[in-house]
Amino acid sequence: MKPRVFVTRRVYPAALAILQEHCVVDYQDSHDTLDAARLVRRLQHADAVVCQLTDPLTAAVIAAAPKLRGIHQIAVGHDNIDVAAATARGIVVTNTPGVLTEATADLTWALLLAAARRVPEAERFLRAGKWQRWDVDLLCGADVSGRTLGLVGFGRIGQAVARRALGFGMRVLYASRSETPAAVEQELRAQRVPLDLLLKQSDFVSLHVPLRDETRHLIGVEQLCQMKSTAFLINTARGPVVDERALVAALEEGLIAGAGLDVFETEPTVTPGLLQLPNVVLLPHVGSAVTSVRSLMCALAANDCVALLTGERPKHPVNPQVLAPLENE
Ligand code: NAP
Ligand code: GLV
Repeated sequence: MKPRVFVTRRVYPAALAILQEHCVVDYQDSHDTLDAARLVRRLQHADAVVCQLTDPLTAAVIAAAPKLRGIHQIAVGHDNIDVAAATARGIVVTNTPGVLTEATADLTWALLLAAARRVPEAERFLRAGKWQRWDVDLLCGADVSGRTLGLVGFGRIGQAVARRALGFGMRVLYASRSETPAAVEQELRAQRVPLDLLLKQSDFVSLHVPLRDETRHLIGVEQLCQMKSTAFLINTARGPVVDERALVAALEEGLIAGAGLDVFETEPTVTPGLLQLPNVVLLPHVGSAVTSVRSLMCALAANDCVALLTGERPKHPVNPQVLAPLENE
């Protein structure tokens, strides 16, 4: 009998074709998100689930899915999944790293440049019919070239952002728990420093850590106070890495110059105050939103799902320790 897979939300067709060849697919062909109760109902007979970052794969949901063997997330971040609960049940969790690195680094730069050079504000000005003439002080922004970029988290995306900074002649600092090979530091001309030094010295602070207990509100009042009053905060990691209420206050009080945000603490709700601030660029979590990239992400998740269900090793396990006993069977 073919295994059963639940696909929680609309995906690119390539993923469905891969799944349908080997599995019976229960497909929710819609952009609607399922709450925990509806998710549990659809997971009753599922051997695996292909899910998205909007799906709450909590410990309770996992506990209520009796046959589940695989959770296959179409994203690199997987903070919506209780990986510890899955691991305890012997459920393999996979994600989609790598294919979205360049697209997300590009978007980080789009935000950085847009915030520094006031691009959305300037466009709003023009569209509102306010443009009268070239003025020497019209919509002047901040320098980017030659300034200091501070990267918090120096994994795949952090390093891809640093690579782009070479073209802007920037000094690159990074804060990370672990060391980066000297060859990579040299190639990217990046220097590892403690977080507080990075905050004090950077003109642009860009966040690239996963959301975990220890990174929740990593940037709060204390950290914002350490930043230069001319500096910008860019967040394409996860909303809760920043204390958004503290950020609104910092922007209102001029503690920092501006921000560029692709992610928010309680998506899709935007913290009160942010929408009113002209010095913030706000995007609806579109870091990896390139058609070819999203299609690849869907295919990667589907391939790992099929691999697990057909006895092969999935390529991107988040909890590889679960696979070891399976491989010895
Ligand atoms: P990655 O390669 O795993 O890099 C994350 C880095 O963060 C690692 O190098 C990790 O190194 C470091 N880190 C973890 N905890 C830290 C801490 N407390 N302080 C400093 N560094 C820490 O992941 P990635 O592919 O670059 O993706 C990063 C995140 O970006 C994802 O988890 C996701 O949330 C987000 N993302 C967002 C979008 C979007 O659409 N906006 C798209 C893709 C990804 P150590 O563990 O050695 O410290
Ligand atoms: C998107 O946010 C991802 O984590 O892939």
